[in-house]
Amino acid sequence: MSPLIDSHGRTKRKLRISLTDRCNFRCTYCMPEQPDWLPRKSLLARGELVRLAGLFVDQGIDQIRLTGGEPLLRRDLVECVREIGALRERGLRRLSMTTNASRIAPVAATLVAAGIDDFNVSLDAVDATVFRQLTRREVAPVLDGIRALADAGASIKLNAVVMRGENDDQVVPLLEWAMAQGLPLRFIEYMPLDAPGHWRRDAVVSEAEMLAAIGAQHTVEALPRSSDPASPYRVDGHYPLGIISTVSHPFCASCDRLRITATGELFTCLFSPIGTPLGVQMREGADDETLSATVRRAVWLKDAGYASRPGPVERTVTMHAMGG
Ligand code: GTP
Ligand code: 5AD
Ligand code: SF4
Repeated sequence: MSPLIDSHGRTKRKLRISLTDRCNFRCTYCMPEQPDWLPRKSLLARGELVRLAGLFVDQGIDQIRLTGGEPLLRRDLVECVREIGALRERGLRRLSMTTNASRIAPVAATLVAAGIDDFNVSLDAVDATVFRQLTRREVAPVLDGIRALADAGASIKLNAVVMRGENDDQVVPLLEWAMAQGLPLRFIEYMPLDAPGHWRRDAVVSEAEMLAAIGAQHTVEALPRSSDPASPYRVDGHYPLGIISTVSHPFCASCDRLRITATGELFTCLFSPIGTPLGVQMREGADDETLSATVRRAVWLKDAGYASRPGPVERTVTMHAMGG
């Protein structure tokens, strides 16, 4: 089948699959303090998720990232990894996971053996107090999880959302900690995707501000951009740093991603106000051909992106159900 392409000429290569909207953390930039979870019955069973994932791989998706909420809260996670990983036979090249890592230590080696090629771990501060303030949880299990992943030989990247007045004083300490561990880090500008009414533009620490803070203590060199969401930099001549600056420098023109929620709703953009309910269609008996045609149509209609309508999105699905 021909690859998935939108009317702006962007080919889709990456699919993010949210395995569950549940999370054991309560990051303030991601979800309300008392989130409304998706109804349990609406969450797709493993067979349904794998079937949908296969339809995307058959249409040229070659990289899948498993997200949440927190993927570790899915009881059949290892089976999901094995069965989605088996799509390598149909063209999948990379299977990744984004996790808070707090529960990963006991299964780190199993997940690597089951087929996860790389892990992105959210770590917004190494300071326990700052971490607790942002996530309402403890940092120690996360650091244990990162250690267990490294011991299992996993490839790891760290993600830190930076918010003014919360963890902006952690930019340099976090960078220096990550450099000492030899782990690549991406700082992320705070995006308007959290609880309704929570986001404020003045809480966004821009890429330029982060670079100024880092540049006061280290040398920072800009590298050429790829289709990756992060602008790449080299710190002190050797260390790979990324900054994901959706708010100050939207990178929508090169967007090669799609997302499905744990109920099988397709969002062609992180900021789309509405999705396409593939899961519902599948449960109503749609065959593979019909589902694939629905996907092609929705992708074609994907709009230009955040750059074309910056600011908060009005929708019921917040970041925790979108998988970031
Ligand atoms: P790789 O590039 O495959 O390593 O993954 P990633 O960086 O896309 O995944 P990750 O889950 O680590 O996401 C890091 C940050 O990038 C999160 O804040 C995401 O919301 C953001 N991000 C990922 N994809 C997109 C996108 O398509 N658009 C925007 N604006 N942000 C994105
Ligand atoms: N802005 C930017 N990044 C966010 N994430 C969650 N909510 C937001 C937000 N409002 C990030 C998490 C995680 C990734 C999946 O999404 O830090 O690393
Ligand atoms: Fe959970 Fe990740 Fe959202 Fe934090 S950012 S609440 S760890 S899904």
